[in-house]
Amino acid sequence: MCGIVGYIGQQGSKEILLHGLEKLEYRGYDSAGIALLNENGVHVFKEKGRIADLRAIVDENVDAPVGIGHTRWATHGVPNRLNAHPHQSASGRFTLVHNGVIENYAILKREYLADVPFKSDTDTEVIVQLVEKFVNDGLTVEEAFRKTLTLLKGSYAIVLIDAENDGVLYAAKNKSPLLAGLGEGFNVVASDAMAMLQVTNQYVELMDKEMLIVTREAVTIKKLNGEIVERAPYTAELDASDIEKGTYPHYMLKEIDEQPLVIRRLIQKYQDENGELTIDNEIVQAMNEADRIYIIACGTSYHAGLVGKQFIEKWANIPVEVHIASEFSYNMPLLSEKPLFIYISQSGETADSRAVLVRTKELGYKALTITNVPGSTLSREADYTLLLHAGPEIAVASTKAYTAQLAVLAILAVVTAKAKGLDVTIDLVKELGIVANAMETLCDAKGEMEAIVREYLATTRNCFFIGRAVDFYVCLEGALKLKEISYIQAEGFAGGELKHGTIALIENGTPVIALATQEHVNLSIRGNVKEVVARGANPCIISMKGLETEEDRYVIPAVHPMLTPLVSVVPLQLIAYYAALHRGCDVDKPRNLAKSVTVE
Ligand code: F6R
Repeated sequence: MCGIVGYIGQQGSKEILLHGLEKLEYRGYDSAGIALLNENGVHVFKEKGRIADLRAIVDENVDAPVGIGHTRWATHGVPNRLNAHPHQSASGRFTLVHNGVIENYAILKREYLADVPFKSDTDTEVIVQLVEKFVNDGLTVEEAFRKTLTLLKGSYAIVLIDAENDGVLYAAKNKSPLLAGLGEGFNVVASDAMAMLQVTNQYVELMDKEMLIVTREAVTIKKLNGEIVERAPYTAELDASDIEKGTYPHYMLKEIDEQPLVIRRLIQKYQDENGELTIDNEIVQAMNEADRIYIIACGTSYHAGLVGKQFIEKWANIPVEVHIASEFSYNMPLLSEKPLFIYISQSGETADSRAVLVRTKELGYKALTITNVPGSTLSREADYTLLLHAGPEIAVASTKAYTAQLAVLAILAVVTAKAKGLDVTIDLVKELGIVANAMETLCDAKGEMEAIVREYLATTRNCFFIGRAVDFYVCLEGALKLKEISYIQAEGFAGGELKHGTIALIENGTPVIALATQEHVNLSIRGNVKEVVARGANPCIISMKGLETEEDRYVIPAVHPMLTPLVSVVPLQLIAYYAALHRGCDVDKPRNLAKSVTVE
């Protein structure tokens, strides 16, 4: 959460910073700011709201060869101009942007800065005031920066500028992501490569508790004890066009439409030269050595884990538990003797999941991360990684990453089962091909989904999703999608649970979306629909070809019964999209949320 960017080069940093912040806006968008350093000193522009609001107040006559920028998701202090970054030291000499949370800021303030007047309610301001204090005490800027870093507890990605030296940027990282981008006569730093793709595709990773000294000519990595670290740059695989909307009105719609392509790409990426699905031997061995698998994830990725459990248990015959990361940390279950941990995370940066990874590594357990972002924290810190190859997912509501997660989990389960000599009859390459085709049909049915929204969700204040077996897990995901972007109160329920309490919520006209894609529970879920209809509900049954009846509102094409979540989720994604659109909500940037949740 929060995105930061810094540039040092020639005149023109303003546009580079603003453009970079637009690409980082998915990380938070309740306020934003930039600081430009030129021959007349530091010029700070901050505004509550989006980067577009910031653009509107930036002085068009001011530009600079050096600058830093920030887009905020508030943790300490309400979102307003005062709390927006950059923050400045008391004299105005030092200016800083920060992503993360400084847990001991109150102690540091009391201990070192009792006499310093603070201007904001943020934890961040303490960092910049400490740097100034230590410089006033006689340290060089680099020494003061390093001393400050050693005092901080918590997470940070920081970029600092010094009004008295326009030849250097200071940056540092602990737990929050930060990369340096390399150029000819300029260098940049940012939370994510997407912010810098416009100027470079050469990057250097930064590890926790490292700092950067960035000049126009060089990027030097140092440990906090001053020791220089040598690290080779790498070329980003990202293409600038991957992060543009093209002709789409929203990233979410583009990403929904990309799903068939992502599934086909995954088949290719995980196929060997003979067309057989394949996964790194070490991973398959770790799976088969485990007596129990623990899947740890949050939100949509957690919902993918619930479906993944079915794949792994039914195909590979290994028991699986699925846990919400933020709960696991504080309420660890009794672990089996030889557990394997699988972390599912689109961003690879989710702090709740990372906290569990750190803990399970301390306990000596092996970890596999399934992520969309190579080189992300969860990927680097796990023993093994499987990539989603979904391309950048920019809309806050996850869509293509979810279906990619399901596909990778299915591949992992089937390859593991085969390595074990189990008799798995599914031809997964063929079946995933059928899934991709079915997704295409569903993506072409946008008009139908829009009609469902007009009919069921135009004015409702709530909506229920019901299903049984894997359909229940897809209902959880459909409800999350709908509530997070349209703000309709939506919940997913197991059909059989309704009568144990939830059915009390059904009123005249309450929309109930029921999924019916599983033959073995087809009759019982339809029975549950009858129960809610008898109490006035407005039912919308989405079933699968072969199981349909006349009462169904939409029938999805038939796919392998284990793989239905990959396709039944698509109409639910589209329903959420059109519901948000019809209500005038900001589809790609729903209120109070951020794409990458880097605070616990
Ligand atoms: C919902 C959504 C979130 C994320 C969750 C975990 O649409 O995107 O629920 O799934 O914040 O994020 P990752 O997968 O990046 O760990």
